[in-house]
Amino acid sequence: MSSLIRTGISLEKELLEKFDRLIKQKGYQNRSEAIRDLVRDHFVQEEVASNREVVGTLTLVYDHHQPKLSEQLIEAQHDYTGQVLATTHVHLDHRNCLEVIILKGRGTDVKAFSDRLLSLRGVKHGKLVLTSTAK
Ligand code: NI
Repeated sequence: MSSLIRTGISLEKELLEKFDRLIKQKGYQNRSEAIRDLVRDHFVQEEVASNREVVGTLTLVYDHHQPKLSEQLIEAQHDYTGQVLATTHVHLDHRNCLEVIILKGRGTDVKAFSDRLLSLRGVKHGKLVLTSTAK
């Protein structure tokens, strides 16, 4: 683990008060941990934007009674040029399925794949979360 270096920053009073309220709501123990997470998130977003390799989870809720949807979801995964690392499927109720797909690939490929699935008819809700180790 890399060593910690202490630094100081200056912020407007109102901005700092707002920040403190936010991090309290989110459950952070101190400002340092919150700022470290913000900085890491910034670098992850940069990795995604620069089209480097990232990992992501795509969560989908869909109606499996929608004609051909299950086949389309499987086809899209076979066509994906990156790696589908794992999928988890839960039958939520008589109609609805929850699927979580764990992906690896270049930022734009992962996003395009995600958009393809999310736009399919019968997919009711979904979200892609991209991350990396922010090295
Ligand atoms: Ni199901």
